[in-house]
Amino acid sequence: MAPLIPVNPFDLIIFGGNGDLALRKLLPSLYQLHCDSQFSENSRVIAVGRNGQTRSSYIDSVRQALSKDLESIDENEFEKFSSRLQYLHFDVSEYANWDELIEILSGHDDKIRVFYLAMPPTLFGPVATGLKLNSLITQDSRIALEKPIGESYGSAKAINDEVGASFLETQIFRVDHYLGKETVQNLLALRFGNSLFEPLWRREVIDHVQITVAEVLGVDNRIEFYDEIGALRDMVQNHLLQLVCLIAMEPPSNLNDDAVRDEKLKVLRALKPITEKQVTSSTVRAQYNSGAIDGSIVPSYASQLSSDSATETFVALKLEIDNWRWSGVPFYMRTGKRLASKHTEIVIQFKQVPHSIFTSDNSGSTPNQLSIMLQPDEGVKLSIQAKEPGPGGFDLKPVSLDLSFEDTFGLRFPDAYERLLIEILRGNPAMFMRRDEIETAWQWIDQIIAGWEESRQPVDTYVAGSWGPTASAMMLDRDGRAWVMGS
Ligand code: BG6
Repeated sequence: MAPLIPVNPFDLIIFGGNGDLALRKLLPSLYQLHCDSQFSENSRVIAVGRNGQTRSSYIDSVRQALSKDLESIDENEFEKFSSRLQYLHFDVSEYANWDELIEILSGHDDKIRVFYLAMPPTLFGPVATGLKLNSLITQDSRIALEKPIGESYGSAKAINDEVGASFLETQIFRVDHYLGKETVQNLLALRFGNSLFEPLWRREVIDHVQITVAEVLGVDNRIEFYDEIGALRDMVQNHLLQLVCLIAMEPPSNLNDDAVRDEKLKVLRALKPITEKQVTSSTVRAQYNSGAIDGSIVPSYASQLSSDSATETFVALKLEIDNWRWSGVPFYMRTGKRLASKHTEIVIQFKQVPHSIFTSDNSGSTPNQLSIMLQPDEGVKLSIQAKEPGPGGFDLKPVSLDLSFEDTFGLRFPDAYERLLIEILRGNPAMFMRRDEIETAWQWIDQIIAGWEESRQPVDTYVAGSWGPTASAMMLDRDGRAWVMGS
């Protein structure tokens, strides 16, 4: 592993410091980075929250959050880590209340300053304005915004405008945690670190691409928020489209911020619109009914919500990219809650051989497949045809060249937030979404939502614990294809 150089001294201010994201993801990741000696001596983490709690009770909640993830906490390290932590309680919408934060930060203008907004997007603009009005934005300041950035092109643009009135685009880090996942980053290594795949990465050789992001979990404690959003906005607008971009983009000239993001943007701009005319054939949306998961019955979405709702908890799409490399190659994507297993995978399905010398009709010959597995196991699998051993015939069987990253590297896989936090602190924006990417993705998503409304396409249902509605399998079946997993 490359030697670690600690980040220059920083103040990281987390707004929404006692929220779910801060306690479940940000603080545990910061603790790990601290234990890995990535932080220099006088770096501090200042949590701002709505709970009127003391510093010591905040440290207790951080300890509790860590103990959910870690088998044991190194007391010595935890004490050093907690000495970095401060807790401030104030209402961010009252700019006159910010005195304590101003005081804590005064005299620390020479450090890196990161404002991490782990709070609802409606507060992004007001907090950015508050930071400006209170003169807290230094030259070396950055602001990190958690998804969702808005819920449509219009609202995303308004948020970007408001935050942009206080921060330069180069200071804004829009987080999509999928971009911090080790295997997602490995996708770049696979494509651009090997000469093997690039010549094959095109319409002449690839039949289609499948992306599955399946979750077992429902939306339990955030169902009211989720009901306003649905799977298309929650998962596709960001995580799945970012995966599409990394698979489909042209090779960037380097890994620097704008080189990668320029290429991703070109993919988003080349997405063929799915409008009212295509929604029925190219989209499926559905909501889970009750069903069994791991031997237990789980209630339907509607009964959890205690009312009827047309919000989709599952969506499948057939997407096309209008450019030379991908013309005619469908990208099938699906994501859903309460599915059969937690499974995130990208499958590159290569074409059938043009002519089989083994059988007269190509039957028994399975096309090559490259699977990039993100969750629960991380790795890459290449399925190739081999002759089954033995005399007599020439029977072909698919066999896998299988690379499990954990077995190969034998390392602890850092959480995506560890990677993202360190990139923000180091000031590397390549793995974050630029304003134009977000807005272009929303424009494409908005058309689908308008198409659903105009066509009055009803929301289908599926049994919790299944792989989604039959319509999802049918969408591929119409094209003579099937989902690799769970069809
Ligand atoms: C979040 C979504 O962005 O990603 C959640 O809002 C979803 O609904 C989560 O559960 C999935 O993340 P992961 O890393 O568990 O695949």
